[in-house]
Amino acid sequence: MEKRGSFGTRLGIILATAGSAVGLGNVWRFPFMTGQNGGASFILVYLLFVLLLGIPGMLSEFIIGRHSQANAARAYGHMAGGKRLWRLVGMLGILTSTVILGFYAVVAGWCLQYLLASLMGSLNGDVAYVHDYFISFSSHPWKPCVWAVLFVLITHFVIVRGVQKGIERASKLLMPLLFVLLVTIVVASCLLPGAIDGIEFLLKPDFTKLNHSTLLEALGQAFFSLSLGTCCLCTYASYFSRDTNLLKSATQIALIDTGIAILAGLMIFPAAFSVGVKPDSGPSLIFITLPNVFQQAFGAMPVVGYVIGILFYALLVFAALTSTISMHEIGTAFFTEELRQPRRRAAWVLTLVCSVIAVFCSLSMGAVDGISLFGLSLMDFCDYITAQVMLPLGAFLTSLFVGWFVDQKLLFDEFTNQGTVSVSFFRAYQFAVRFIVPFCILLIFLHQFGVI
Ligand code: TRP
Repeated sequence: MEKRGSFGTRLGIILATAGSAVGLGNVWRFPFMTGQNGGASFILVYLLFVLLLGIPGMLSEFIIGRHSQANAARAYGHMAGGKRLWRLVGMLGILTSTVILGFYAVVAGWCLQYLLASLMGSLNGDVAYVHDYFISFSSHPWKPCVWAVLFVLITHFVIVRGVQKGIERASKLLMPLLFVLLVTIVVASCLLPGAIDGIEFLLKPDFTKLNHSTLLEALGQAFFSLSLGTCCLCTYASYFSRDTNLLKSATQIALIDTGIAILAGLMIFPAAFSVGVKPDSGPSLIFITLPNVFQQAFGAMPVVGYVIGILFYALLVFAALTSTISMHEIGTAFFTEELRQPRRRAAWVLTLVCSVIAVFCSLSMGAVDGISLFGLSLMDFCDYITAQVMLPLGAFLTSLFVGWFVDQKLLFDEFTNQGTVSVSFFRAYQFAVRFIVPFCILLIFLHQFGVI
């Protein structure tokens, strides 16, 4: 059996885990969700969930993973003292992340295509043109499939290089780059005339905009963005060193992730408002609305618009890649350790499965009729079922597990690194995982399904 990998440095741990968290969830999903749900009021609910449910949830996965130093299924089993039933929670996580990788790769593939298109200047045109461009591209029978599979393959080749040489190195390169690109575009966007309306939309809450489904949507978004509920963090934590301060790391990663989501908002909304575009167009926001926004906003300086467009899609590609790597790793670690296969072969299993899901999701976007479930296209169905059902469920079960079933002395030792750090926060954490996290998730579920 191959030797287990681990991250080399503390910076590597933070950047790789933040790389998993920061992704299309921040730059694509967060802005369109915020746009659809009334701006600042959605963000406030979101922030509350990150603080109250997100950070304790992250800590639980960190504890399970770091304690067990194994893939997700084995980690849960080990932490449960060998009770095999709990392995199922780990397996649920592996299944969820595989499905997410499938549809995520489709969007990541669109980003690749748009990067190329903006380089070649072929996104220039009026509103109708960009709209048609997106529709005809996304419903093309094979082009988006090829891009999606290509994205899974790129992920694959990082993964087979291993934890330190693949994941950690890619994150150390891509994350700083992403940050610089983001800040550059934010500055350009906020300097536009009329940008202030977009900033206001992000910062001034209007509670009349909150509706029945906002709570579950904000919850799903918080978990999705933090990579929570699929054992992704648990798998990464199995490569942490024994002296990693888990509370500090979880807090830092939540801060980075939330900060980047807000920055993404500051990049998109000021530009959109500046040219009078409403930000509530949904998932196609960054593919239909934005290309026009950049063109019009920088109309007086076409070169700036051109460069900003390229930087924007490059940023999306980088952000997506560090996240797809983390989703891929969950299954790869599982197949490597449970089927005792070489890492390379295990990775191929996952790459194949995800590519198939990606192709079907992509085809469901209009190329082939009838690839739908419960009235949603397969693509939308996968997004819905993972973010709003499987992630909260995974986090709920994990929380019950660590709060009520795991030996609490062991939990304390792992949380505090044998009583050396964060001791005074342990009780608060324990209270959160025992009561706050499971109750809130339960309430939100019951509310959504009309029970209360
Ligand atoms: N958090 C990532 C994003 O915001 C997506 C992601 C990576 C993810 N790993 C995950 C989502 C695991 C859920 C579960 O884009």
